[in-house]
Amino acid sequence: MSHDPQDVALVTGATSGIGFAVARELAQRSRDVLIVADRDVEEAVQALRTHTGTAVKGLRVDLTREDGVATTAARARELGVRTLVLNAGVGVHGPFLRTPLQDELRLVDLNVRSVVHLTHALVPDLVAAGTGRIMVTSSIAATMPAPLFATYAASKAFLRSFAWSLRGELTGTGVTVTTLLPSATRTPFFREAEMEGTRIGRAPKSSPALVARRAVDGMLAGRAEVVPGLQAKMMVATAALLPQPLRTAFHSWFYEPEAR
Ligand SMILES: NC(=O)c1ccc[n+]([C@@H]2O[C@H](COP(=O)([O-])OP(=O)(O)OC[C@H]3O[C@@H](n4cnc5c(N)ncnc54)[C@H](OP(=O)(O)O)[C@@H]3O)[C@@H](O)[C@H]2O)c1
Repeated sequence: MSHDPQDVALVTGATSGIGFAVARELAQRSRDVLIVADRDVEEAVQALRTHTGTAVKGLRVDLTREDGVATTAARARELGVRTLVLNAGVGVHGPFLRTPLQDELRLVDLNVRSVVHLTHALVPDLVAAGTGRIMVTSSIAATMPAPLFATYAASKAFLRSFAWSLRGELTGTGVTVTTLLPSATRTPFFREAEMEGTRIGRAPKSSPALVARRAVDGMLAGRAEVVPGLQAKMMVATAALLPQPLRTAFHSWFYEPEAR
């Protein structure tokens, strides 16, 4: 693997969906990539190597665990990573009072805690080098509260606010922070969260390849926010127009079961 710091990117949650497509997009643009996930990473590593020819390394860790995050940070530092794509995330669907607390807390550990921890561990090196790109995968769910998907929407709102704040703090350092706000995208996410029977689970979705292309273009250009595709832009615009109670009701509709 090349150790030119400019060329090494860390992508979390890169074995499927948006993360895999972002890793492929970066590799196609000659970045070496370190991909992280908690199940099988080898298949994704092989697929990326075959399709791009750059150096791709995999790390299998559970990012809900503090030791998993610490291992990831140590490996990223060793490789001189200068591009961080903090993308791993899960959803927990259902009435908040009925979902298992353990699942809700795992979501917070992955979607929120691991991002804060990895950023805190790795950004000082980027600032010291005077160069770096960070992208945080939030969601259009950040723009509206979401009954039946409460903790997820809150975690994505946290990420959006965190990324914008960090961007402000890093002005002038050569390090930029980009927030990615995808709308529904064709990935295993909805199956994993057992949401295939909901309106959003059945709705038309963006392609992960398109989301990734827009995301990487925006991140490399140092843009503050990327809202990929017309559907995502319409959702963000709708959220901005509605008062909070209507925004909440509108968004809630998507998470309800769809009558067949
Ligand atoms: N799909 C959408 O409609 C959509 C829309 C907006 C935002 N997003 C966000 O996009 C991001 C990627 O989601 P996706 O749609 O691409 O879903 P996905 O295909 O299910 O990808 C999730 C990735 O996260 C990894 N992951 C899950 N738990 C992990 C853990 N404990 N430790 C380390 N890695 C873990 C998964 O690896 P394993 O399979 O090995 O667990 C997988 O690589 C998430 O943050 C999601 O919230 C998705």
